[in-house]
This record gives sequence, C-alpha cells and structure tokens, in this order.
Amino acid sequence: MNLKGKDYITTRDWTDEELEHMLAFSLRLKDQFRCGEATPLLRDKSLFALFFEQSTRTRNSMEAGMTQLGGHANVLNPEKLQLSHGETVLDTGRVLSRMGHGIAIRNCDWGVGNKFMRDIAAISDVPLINLQCDLYHPCQAAADIMTVRERFPNEEKGRKIVVSWTYAPSYVRPISVPHSEILIMSRMGLDVTLAHPPEFKLLPEIVDEAKANCARNGTKFEMVDDMDAAFEGAHVVYPKSWGCLVTEPDREAAVKHIEKYPDWICNERRMALAADDAIYMHPLPATRGQEVTDAVIDGPQSAVWDQAENRLHTAKAIMGLTM
Ligand code: CP
Repeated sequence: MNLKGKDYITTRDWTDEELEHMLAFSLRLKDQFRCGEATPLLRDKSLFALFFEQSTRTRNSMEAGMTQLGGHANVLNPEKLQLSHGETVLDTGRVLSRMGHGIAIRNCDWGVGNKFMRDIAAISDVPLINLQCDLYHPCQAAADIMTVRERFPNEEKGRKIVVSWTYAPSYVRPISVPHSEILIMSRMGLDVTLAHPPEFKLLPEIVDEAKANCARNGTKFEMVDDMDAAFEGAHVVYPKSWGCLVTEPDREAAVKHIEKYPDWICNERRMALAADDAIYMHPLPATRGQEVTDAVIDGPQSAVWDQAENRLHTAKAIMGLTM
C-alpha cells in the first residue's frame, strides 16, 4: 500500500485498509524500538512542525520520531516565523513545502484550525499531518485505538467505551479529542457511550457519523447526561474535559458553564461501576483532582502511559508511510 504524499488531517480521510496498515506498521515500529533496531526510513528528510499551542506529547513524538527515523524535525511557532510580521499562511506553506518532505501543524483555534490546515494542504506538494485542530486530533486517535487493542487483544469489538466530559475550569479545552474518539472507536467496532452535561454538545455531524458507524457495525451508540449511568459496565472509560464551544463560543461564559459541574470527575467509586477489567484512558495532560483522582490515574486500571508511549510509535508510522 503506497501512502506517500497522503495528508493525515482526520481519520475520516483514510480508508479502513489505510488505517489498519498504519496501525500494523506502528506495532512493528514499537517492536523495533524495544529491540533497539534502527529504522532509518526517512534518512535526510525534513519535517516542519508548526505549533500555535503548547505541547508535550505531540511535539516530542514528532521530534523524537523524526530523529529515530533518520531525519530531522524543525519545530516552529508563529513567533519564530514571518507569520508574526504578516506573511500569509499560504506563502508560508508554499515555502516550507519547497524545502522539506512534510508539514505538521497544531492550530486549535475554533473555526480556524482545520481551515488553516486544509488551505496549506491544498497548495503544498508534501503531506500535511494534523497535530490537533479545532475539530480533530487524529494522531491521538491512532495511539488510542492501538492502546485499546493492546489491552484487549483481538477482542476489542463489542466492548463498551465511554467518552465522558469532566470538570476542569482552568481553561476551555478543544473538542477535537472527543470528536476523534467517537469517530475512531465507532468505526473500529466498539459500543460507544457519549456522556456530557447539556451545554457540552459535540458537533451534530460528527455525532451522526459515529452513530452511522455503529449502525453499520451492528454496535450501540448512546448519549447520556449522567456520568454514573455512562460508566455502568464500561470496558474503556475515556473521561476528559472539553469546552462548550458548540453552544457557547465566548470563553468567559464557557468557563461559567464548566464551574457548574465539579462532580464530573473520574474517581474510584465511578471506576467500580465499570467492568472489572475496565481501563482508564486520557490523552494527557490530565488535571489531577478535577478530571481524575490520583488513585485512578496512578492505579492498576490506568492505561495513560501506554497511550502516551504509543503516540511515538503511531507518529513514526504516519510519518514513515506518508513522507
Ligand atoms: N495528548 C496531547 O496531544 O498532548 P500534548 O498537548 O502534550 O501534545
């Protein structure tokens, strides 16, 4: 399968076969990493990784990943570029695409990020990798389905995943992770329960697509506004905070909505409602004491460090296949 030159802006743009190929390659790269085997697939190649927001996992998975593949990542932010002096997005994209072999961007600005990437992808001759936008976080989705499969080998289908909103009023987080989770998990054959207070809706077209994926797979899609009910019998719990951007784009007003729901936390009582072999997932960074208790994130059911590590292996697979 030849994926050279293909953009990775959302998992929706890749076929099932393409996603399976990337996930199989991720597993191979993980084995090779563990064995200390060199994987110089991108020797002498350059990636330009442009971050409009902070990042720990994404930035380091791309930068370390490029080094481990024999190439180099130039990690950029707008202040380092003439973008800050008004050079246009498209002129910036044209120049970067002439100098390297891939462009990767994180821009989560609501109503802006995904369009920014699509505009650059349209004029670029090299693949564009989405490092999180306002709508999608496809690199996180790849690591997460890999982690679920590792924890439930060959038996993830029909398992129940809960994607639940949690409290965390320090800032308004994007909705790209819950969007990407309900899309990938419904597509890969899991039962999906989406739980949130009424103000924290996701985009209806994304929810509809997840429902259609479940209908096609003969699995269940449920929506509830009760975190306890959502956790009942779940095999994978994925509680994280997101903003009410769909219903309230004003950030100050949005924080006031978050402050109404301090009880939406993943704690040991709620984990006890889930299945005995349930795992706890979070893309990180998690706000301890608000989104999740220490006992859960540091406990035996937590899969968050595997998820974080799998960001490296899936990033290498995506870059190695497309660049
Ligand atoms: N999960 C995730 O994208 O982490 P960072 O924001 O640290 O990149």
